[in-house]
Amino acid sequence: MRTRAAVLYEMGLPTPYRESKPLVIEELDLEPPGPGEVLVRIRAAGLCHSDLSVINGNRPRPTPMALGHEAAGEVVEVGEGVRDLAVGDHVVCAFVPSCGHCPPCREGRPALCEPGAEANNKGVLLSGQHRLKKGGAHIHHHLGVSGFADYAVIDRHSLIKVDPSIPFHEAALFGCAVMTGVGAVLNTAQVKAGSSVAVVGLGGVGLSALLGAAVAGARQIVAVDVNPDKLKLAKSLGATDTFDARDPDVVDRIRSRTEDGVEYAFETAGVVQAMQTAYRITRRGGVTVTSGLPHPKEQFAIPHVTLTAEERTIKGSYIGSCIPSRDIPRYIALYKQGRLPVDRLLTDTLPLEQINEGFDRLARGQAARLVVTL
Ligand SMILES: NC(=O)c1ccc[n+]([C@@H]2O[C@H](COP(=O)([O-])OP(=O)(O)OC[C@H]3O[C@@H](n4cnc5c(N)ncnc54)[C@H](O)[C@@H]3O)[C@@H](O)[C@H]2O)c1
Ligand SMILES: [Zn+2]
Ligand SMILES: [Zn+2]
Repeated sequence: MRTRAAVLYEMGLPTPYRESKPLVIEELDLEPPGPGEVLVRIRAAGLCHSDLSVINGNRPRPTPMALGHEAAGEVVEVGEGVRDLAVGDHVVCAFVPSCGHCPPCREGRPALCEPGAEANNKGVLLSGQHRLKKGGAHIHHHLGVSGFADYAVIDRHSLIKVDPSIPFHEAALFGCAVMTGVGAVLNTAQVKAGSSVAVVGLGGVGLSALLGAAVAGARQIVAVDVNPDKLKLAKSLGATDTFDARDPDVVDRIRSRTEDGVEYAFETAGVVQAMQTAYRITRRGGVTVTSGLPHPKEQFAIPHVTLTAEERTIKGSYIGSCIPSRDIPRYIALYKQGRLPVDRLLTDTLPLEQINEGFDRLARGQAARLVVTL
């Protein structure tokens, strides 16, 4: 069959993307689902900074690639051997397929699935196959999803069946921003009720971390960003204190407003400067967690002695250390109870044709989450 998709042919084109148009909306050939694969009618896909990082070259991937990894849709057809999903089921995509058998999968850490990571790095599905083609040539899959498209063939191990009562444009957010941000708080850091938390970088991931901190019962939630509008939004979502990261005294100010730092600090901007801030506002004995994905060449330095003498911990968090099949339904249940208002992260919905303009807005920090509806 044929499908429209947003294809990146060249990384690192100049901004504004409205003019350079790094994403080309075009018709591709989509092969039918192979064994263990599913044809999904994509209904919504969010614009995440990790897509932007492929576009600007910070997260190099093989091209041409059909982008989009935060998506939700409806099952149209199942491939051979898929028995636990049926036509019409609503699904959210997880951006790392988990094979279920490799060492991290066996240990309950599917975010680190080794065949999943290998497939994602190569831009293929878990089967090693490409299902997208243009004029007979392969188009790479983005993180096993390629969700900026009307249809996608996706491995069963990348799909989570969800409650059909939640609208697709909200369901999509659970696939990346919510899993990553809420999971960093609840799984990676395991924030305890009554503790103090800071979030540095208030995009879709950081604001989800903030909502996660509220769910965890944090007594103080410090929100930090370079953009005053993000600080306002954070305040309305439960931040107790907000700080402008551009203030040269921001670290001292936060340390004096807290008990000389917070117990848990989250870096969710994807820039080393934000990681430095997060580390410096973590108190003695505290935990600094990063979900940020800067360019592979970026280095982060700390005074070594603080790690030892202050018994500090630094943790990385990929997909919020989630088990997607366990955590997406849990977070959706919290959303339905009104305890995780992720709909407040939605800045706007866009048609696929405006995707380049959408990435301009994300790059300028003008959006929490923008979602393409399909
Ligand atoms: N670990 C994972 O599994 C995972 C998943 C999704 C996204 N990510 C990464 O998380 C990061 C955030 O993603 P997003 O989609 O929320 O991005 P986003 O662009 O929506 O938000 C980033 C925010 O950081 C702010 N910021 C920039 N520089 C800052 C600084 N020095 N101090 C404080 N704030 C600063 C921006 O103003 C913006 O509000 C990116 O690096 C992305 O690639 C990681
Ligand atoms: Zn993402
Ligand atoms: Zn695995």
